[in-house]
Amino acid sequence: MRWSTKLQYLFVACAAVAGYSASRCCRQAELETANTKLQEEYTRSWDERISEEATGNLIFRSLSSLMQMAPNSRYPNGHSIARASIAPGTRLYHGRGNSKLPVMDWLAFDPEHSQTFLRGQNGTLFTFMTTRELKLIYFDGCSANKRGGVADTQDVLIWGEVGHGREPWRSDPELDRITDACAWGRKYGIDGFVRMEYDFEIMYCDFSQGLTLVSSLDTPSDARLAPPLMEVRHAGGRHNAFPGESRVQVDSATMISFFDPALTSLVAARRGLPRTQYRIAHISGEDTARVRADISEMVARDPTGKSGIDWRTLAQAIQERFGDRLLYIRHLLHLARLVAADTDASLQVHAQFQSITAEIHKQLLVSLSPYMPREGIGEPTWFEAIARGCTTSFTPRFPEARFTRQERLLNYAVEEVLHEVCRVYTEVWRDAFGLDVRAKGSNFDASIASPMLAKWRDAFDALIEWLDWPIWLKCDPACAVNEFCEVPQLAPWQAGEARPRCIAIDSDWV
Ligand SMILES: *[C@@H]1O[C@H](CO)[C@@H](O)[C@H](O)[C@H]1NC(C)=O
Repeated sequence: MRWSTKLQYLFVACAAVAGYSASRCCRQAELETANTKLQEEYTRSWDERISEEATGNLIFRSLSSLMQMAPNSRYPNGHSIARASIAPGTRLYHGRGNSKLPVMDWLAFDPEHSQTFLRGQNGTLFTFMTTRELKLIYFDGCSANKRGGVADTQDVLIWGEVGHGREPWRSDPELDRITDACAWGRKYGIDGFVRMEYDFEIMYCDFSQGLTLVSSLDTPSDARLAPPLMEVRHAGGRHNAFPGESRVQVDSATMISFFDPALTSLVAARRGLPRTQYRIAHISGEDTARVRADISEMVARDPTGKSGIDWRTLAQAIQERFGDRLLYIRHLLHLARLVAADTDASLQVHAQFQSITAEIHKQLLVSLSPYMPREGIGEPTWFEAIARGCTTSFTPRFPEARFTRQERLLNYAVEEVLHEVCRVYTEVWRDAFGLDVRAKGSNFDASIASPMLAKWRDAFDALIEWLDWPIWLKCDPACAVNEFCEVPQLAPWQAGEARPRCIAIDSDWV
């Protein structure tokens, strides 16, 4: 399937061997067969619903949440491990209760975070600068919180078993974790491990490598001069949304996902659970071995051996293309329900109903117009062409021959997400296409439109819930100047939903 056609290989080989001028020779042939290939590449029927156990949405969500506070706070149990780097010249901070230089220890990105560790009368705030590019491993989720399943992916990497050293009578083995993680990373030249709690941090393996001390500040011991603890959450909130903590560059071509459908023990473990309770505690020995082999390969390989596609930006572009309009369409559909329920002034209701339907019609049209061909308007093949054009609007023609194993999974996830988005849009458009929504002289029939709108509402509600995009995770309305936005990091035993909320900057720890 997909890039396996002969022509595709011909093009890749041609371009690789002879460079740019040769690639021009193939371009004409490419153009001629482009449309046919787009059709060939996509074998799933356009109106086929994605299976309930599909994980493309989950992988897409992990990808588009990398290094962002808000989406990783919402689902604390991380499911991804990736390589990451930090550029030279970056300031990093370390606070402690004495003036001894750290050796193997924790680093923060924001001084507000380090300041929470300045205990006692001899508190010292160290500022370091990176002297070269740092080679790091990133664990997503609230991977530095020490509760529930947040450290599972670290356990798999470090010890090959989940729950290692966490017998109920022992406290969380953070010191073992940093020591053993660094011992593991030594042979790959890993400088440290990026994690997240109320802000991002690094477990740094050797302060004498890759860092230089910029300053060491003896901080006042007077409690009245200590910044409030809340400020760490305020600082973390600055990294809520894309691109998140942008001082860390995650290499998405190395993103190992525990949502990979090949990890069958986890497919079974997730069955029937809500997303907040997904964790990898029940991973089988076989799947653990498989992931560990992938990790070793991903860490050891030449980082330039990949397609070069910027997957995070791609995921962001897809969310931006559809995200706000999806919410607007949902808003209109729910407005229509309210109007339909109001039976008092029927003439007015009819007019309102018609104008809402016309607006939905327009939004569907705008969404799908880049994929609407001139031929066969209104026929089944026309709708099929629209759906396929929409589904294949981002990923086909990628250089799949150069994909890493992780990029193949990302490609699958992006395709699955687009399939579902485009299926729902096109099915609703097929219904809407037949409705007469003209402002004047219209034969608009509310009794036909009304049940249709109810059906569309269910379809869009289900789609939005399935996608669960991080781009939607923000405080709405936006926070005031004396507030910051936060998605609460709920512990496993806490009830309630982790929804974004505004918190007063000068409030105490709540
Ligand atoms: C702070 O440093 C001083 C001087 O080195 C030392 O005498 C004192 O014991 C230290 N206090 C604490 C609480 O560590």
